[in-house]
Amino acid sequence: MKEWRKSGKFALISLMCAAALTGGCTSGSTPEETEDDTTNLTVVGFSEVGAESDWRVANTESMKATFTESNGYELLFDDAKQKQENQIAAIRNFILQEVNYIVVDPVVEDGWEGVLQEAKDADIPVIVVDRMVKTDEDLFTAWVGSDFYEEGQKATVWLENYLEEQGRVHERIDILHVQGTEGSSAQIGRTKSLLEAIEVHGSWRLIGSVQGEFTQAKTYEVVRDVLETGSIPDVIYCENDNSMLGALQALDEKNISHGVDGRVIVISFDASKPGLEECKAGRINLDVECNPDHGPRVEAIIRQIEAGETPEKYCYVEETCFEPQELTQEFIDSRGY
Ligand code: AHR
Repeated sequence: MKEWRKSGKFALISLMCAAALTGGCTSGSTPEETEDDTTNLTVVGFSEVGAESDWRVANTESMKATFTESNGYELLFDDAKQKQENQIAAIRNFILQEVNYIVVDPVVEDGWEGVLQEAKDADIPVIVVDRMVKTDEDLFTAWVGSDFYEEGQKATVWLENYLEEQGRVHERIDILHVQGTEGSSAQIGRTKSLLEAIEVHGSWRLIGSVQGEFTQAKTYEVVRDVLETGSIPDVIYCENDNSMLGALQALDEKNISHGVDGRVIVISFDASKPGLEECKAGRINLDVECNPDHGPRVEAIIRQIEAGETPEKYCYVEETCFEPQELTQEFIDSRGY
């Protein structure tokens, strides 16, 4: 790791200690910042997926709020606009700039070996956040994020119980599946859980898998097209809140009721503010949490590395899920995202 750029904080502390040891620092005096202090910041290059969802915006805010100059960092932020090639170019750029750490939230799991090997050759630690990369484990230092498969299981177990409570266990249940970005960990895990549950429940039937790309606009279009055919699903399984908002838009346009007292059961993921608002209003039935507040978690990993410790390779964030009856406005307002 390069030694010429140390954290501003660490540099300042070293300066104070050195001054105290040589008797050059009088009690109560504050060492003045020199121009060098800014070049002593720990430089973090962060390649973000994009700005496709409220979750993503919250994630970006968390990173930006954590990696500030006052915390001892210089953040080089790159928005990849949901394209892996942009992320690869950004990482190469970070390597050229000799950053201290590379943080990547990979849009998809495959295709990272080459560029991560380049980072390794340049001796720059890589921290993967939120979604996973499918590579040799030696190519990154640590990962922190959600267990997307478990999130999906929370949703399918909830559905199983809900249908039982409603006395609909033997009824045929038509499910419309709105997938997120194909090949992303969030899509892979949540989809796997749904497909496994459909295998197990003979009465559950997948009437369609449509690509919503985690966005409201795309999901609105694809769900509207399904509804145009006259087919009305019993359940819409939306792989994030923004997709759910697009699905509700399409349902509302057709005057098809949904949620607690409605015809269509709606399940969503993220538990972002807009998602929880819909849930509290009973317009959707379940919102499974996916926590975007990764800035402090990534920073904790960097601190461990700086301290010469070895961080855990994989760190899963604890998450929950929400039904309408348990939500209050106070609770929603108290959340940071
Ligand atoms: O990777 C996390 C997922 O990506 C979130 O569910 C979604 O909202 C985001 O775009």
